[in-house]
Amino acid sequence: MTAVGIDAIEIRTGKLKLDLANTFAPKKGEDPEKYTKGIGLKHSSFPDVYEDIVTMGANAAKDLMDRTGLVPDDIGRIDVATESAFDNSKPVSTYIAGCLEQVYDGDFHHANKGERKFACLAGTQSIDDAYNWIRAGRNRGRSALVIATDTALYERGDPGEATQGAGAVAMLISEDPNVVELSTDQGYGSADETDFLKPNQQFPSVDGKRSVQVYLARMREALEDYESVAGDTHPDDFEYIPFHTPFPGMVRKAALLGYRHMTRGTDVEDALESEIGRQPREADFDSWDAYEDAIRDYMDDLKETDQYSEWYGHAIEPTIDISSQVGNWYTGSVHIARLSALRSAARKGESLAGKRMLVGSYGSGAQAEIHAETVREGWKDEVSAIDVEDQLDSRYDISYDEYELVHDVHNHDKEVDVEEFTQPDGEFVFTGWGRMNERRYEYIE
Ligand code: CAA
Repeated sequence: MTAVGIDAIEIRTGKLKLDLANTFAPKKGEDPEKYTKGIGLKHSSFPDVYEDIVTMGANAAKDLMDRTGLVPDDIGRIDVATESAFDNSKPVSTYIAGCLEQVYDGDFHHANKGERKFACLAGTQSIDDAYNWIRAGRNRGRSALVIATDTALYERGDPGEATQGAGAVAMLISEDPNVVELSTDQGYGSADETDFLKPNQQFPSVDGKRSVQVYLARMREALEDYESVAGDTHPDDFEYIPFHTPFPGMVRKAALLGYRHMTRGTDVEDALESEIGRQPREADFDSWDAYEDAIRDYMDDLKETDQYSEWYGHAIEPTIDISSQVGNWYTGSVHIARLSALRSAARKGESLAGKRMLVGSYGSGAQAEIHAETVREGWKDEVSAIDVEDQLDSRYDISYDEYELVHDVHNHDKEVDVEEFTQPDGEFVFTGWGRMNERRYEYIE
């Protein structure tokens, strides 16, 4: 069976950045380390005045097409994953295709376009849709463009404000891919939850503490479901484990839970027995609460062991590097976690082809999905060609007053006139509204 998976990746960060320790923390009267160490973020990315989910998505897609030499006829499908859409009918993919048609000969009139919604999980679901389309033989030799694009903004004063971010990830899904091959083994953990939602409103209603618990519960269910089809997992099976990263502190919790689960009944549990005892077993407890307390105590000890630290440093830490500099990109977050790990491996000269990653996606509301991916021969050239550092380093560092203005500019209920902070250069920009209240875009040379 021909491999199908991610063939090329590009990202586009919002062109502004907010320094959480030095700009945000003092205004909030918080210790900077709450953000840098507790939550795990240095900066958040924000869109400039002329940027939004369409411009970031279209700019990432154009970079991808230019770098890989693709033309519109090579693309048979454009799926956009977002939870920041501004239209309940017309999908963002039509806007993005319209932008791209301004600069390429040819068009996307025979490409199937859509928009996927399941909170932050939708990017992964769009990749699945593309995979299934190719596997079903309906692609006529063409590839799919999946674009995960979001402006993850919270109400001012919401605890989530510290985890904001804005950016897009464009991914090309093809046969015989360069970066990773997707496997058919998947696990799901899904339940009707009220943890984070946007019922016809721009900024989310969030029960932050509960959302953390729901993330962990669904991720654990997904891992159990994954194991029911792929067999028991062991930490040594996977080079990297990229998780959905609303903020790196969340990944610390998910990684610990995953490691405990994966090491249960293994050589790792045996090796740790003399130091921290064996993992608690439910049958040994009179109540679920007592069992959970014992598990929590075990995890507190596990976190301090050398084995865990070493595994975390190798398999998890490299996945959170980009996120710690940009904040939450919602649908794109798990995909920048994968990219972050691969770029770190490329920098260290690791030889990854044929090795596997376990990818844990999550969307509030709530559903987690876990699947394995196998790294392909072309991964290093592909991920090294992406200008991640240039984009991150060239962001304009906003003051707190500027942050307030930027937040207002992107608030759909406010009308404020603010000068742009950066100059557009070879990119799509938002230019205003048309006669039917549609958003309009132009390519600036
Ligand atoms: N030094 C070091 N660490 C510190 C510190 C300091 N001075 N002060 C606080 N901390 C630590 C805390 O101990 C805590 O760590 P632990 O959870 O490991 O104990 C961490 O910093 C955060 O502190 P708080 O819990 O006090 O922070 P908070 O209550 O202000 O906000 C939050 C945390 C509720 C998660 C908030 O950021 C939030 O609501 N975020 C939005 C929702 C979210 O992202 N949920 C994640 C799961 S849902 C999801 O994944 C979907 C999605 O993308 C939104």
